Amino acid sequence: MTPQHIELVKATVPVLRENGVALTRYFYQRMLNNHPELKNTFNLEHQDNERQPRALAAAVLAYAEHIENPSVLAKALEHITTKHVSLDIQPEQYAIVGENLLHSISEVLDVAMDSDLIAAWQAAYMQLADLMISMEKNKYQTLASQHGGWTGWRAFKISAIERSGSAYLFSVTAQDGQAILNAQANTPISVRVSVPEQELLQPQQFKLSASTENSYQFLVEHVAEPSPYSVAAILAQHYDVGDVVELSAPMTV
Ligand code: HEM
Repeated sequence: MTPQHIELVKATVPVLRENGVALTRYFYQRMLNNHPELKNTFNLEHQDNERQPRALAAAVLAYAEHIENPSVLAKALEHITTKHVSLDIQPEQYAIVGENLLHSISEVLDVAMDSDLIAAWQAAYMQLADLMISMEKNKYQTLASQHGGWTGWRAFKISAIERSGSAYLFSVTAQDGQAILNAQANTPISVRVSVPEQELLQPQQFKLSASTENSYQFLVEHVAEPSPYSVAAILAQHYDVGDVVELSAPMTV
């Protein structure tokens, strides 16, 4: 990034932050309209309550603010990239997010896409994206290299469902019968299910209750008034012993 880019980006952070809701709404609507396949990647329940839309844009703005010393955000980036890997986020998806974010910035600031300002934001976004992609690449490599480790989504069969108060304890075993990564209780895992009556997959993170040599257990809490995209409610109401769900590897990295 040039010093001029840095000045332009930093000068617009406060305006974008003030218009944060408009920025993120426009961004997600545009992106999910142009790339409906991403509805399988983002949990649409989180879109409804706007938790996730705000988080992504807030992280980009925080990065831009600290563009000269991004190391202050190292801890936050560690957390975000771990979550991304757990959701199988891929490098090529960064271009889609970037394009839609830049269009949204251009809209909110009312400046042309071919302006210097958007070029500066593009440089800032690319710098952040490159950093995150390389952090994620390392995590995928580490996961794949561990005994029983894997990347992406792996099919698991539900072997038992036990009631535990108002929650359900799901036990699952790998459908391929191969070894699974050993992980401590409380390690996050993502579970992906099919939404009934829709051509849609939805992921959600849970915490491992236990892992044995060939099975994982996770607790699915009761959800009062769930949205149609609540993975916990879908599991509790529509999944049975013998059915298959997809899991990403426990995030031990
Ligand atoms: C520089 C670019 C990006 C930034 C700064 C960013 C930032 C974030 C942040 C702050 C979170 C929330 C973490 C948490 O819940 O604690 C998040 C979650 C997530 N990100 Fe990203 N992200 C970026 C790129 C991407 C890309 C390219 C994709 C894939 C298309 C993606 C997909 C997701 C998903 C699916 C979640 C979880 C959302 C949910 O809870 O439903 N992100 N990201």
